[in-house]
Amino acid sequence: MDAREMKIKAAAAALEHVESGMKLGIGTGSTADEFVRLLAEKVAAGMKVEGVPTSERTARLCLELGITLRSLDELPELDLTIDGADELDARLTLIKGGGGALLREKIVACASRKMIVIADESKQVETLGAFPLPIEVNPFGHVATRIAIERAASRLGLSGALNLRMAGSERFHTDGGHLIIDASFGRIPDAEALSAELAAIPGVVEHGLFIHIASLAIIAGPAGARTVTA
Ligand code: A5P
Repeated sequence: MDAREMKIKAAAAALEHVESGMKLGIGTGSTADEFVRLLAEKVAAGMKVEGVPTSERTARLCLELGITLRSLDELPELDLTIDGADELDARLTLIKGGGGALLREKIVACASRKMIVIADESKQVETLGAFPLPIEVNPFGHVATRIAIERAASRLGLSGALNLRMAGSERFHTDGGHLIIDASFGRIPDAEALSAELAAIPGVVEHGLFIHIASLAIIAGPAGARTVTA
């Protein structure tokens, strides 16, 4: 089974948690895209759902496939969000933001009664941090913000390259017009402590650590999909 087939397996298992009438947060990334495609088939067959997309990219795919979309301001309380992740540990702490949508993903997930993560088994790790942590920052003073991040990380004994994300020769901008710094810490033994340090830096808009947000993960491997609870 290749990686795409595993993503489809996880997405299909997540779809079983979706009921007609639900207000859904819809994630971003290649795994979430598979979920959108399967959801669109259900919608074509008569399922009624309203979706709040976590990115412009996801919004475009949903509209193309006929899924009804609302803004989060129209539907501020959601039943369920289904989204991918870049890494997850056994407590369902996540690293997200590889696709640059972490701010909207976190806002939407936190506005939902439940978040289900869908992933292939390559995303499951013992300790987070091999995947560089995306940190969304305001463009104003981003160099000063990077230095503040470096100092905050070093207070926790963390170090590593902090790279401003690029899209070709241009700076990558998020849907909200911010920049992303990808922080290669290698290992993040205490996600809570790092989250608190980052949140205290004024130029940091949000970071990709999702702590106590997801309550269920569906992990697909060659043998099929299994669920992990927080
Ligand atoms: C988007 O910003 C990310 O948080 C994605 O959810 C994450 O990068 C997973 O993407 P894939 O499903 O493409 O691996």
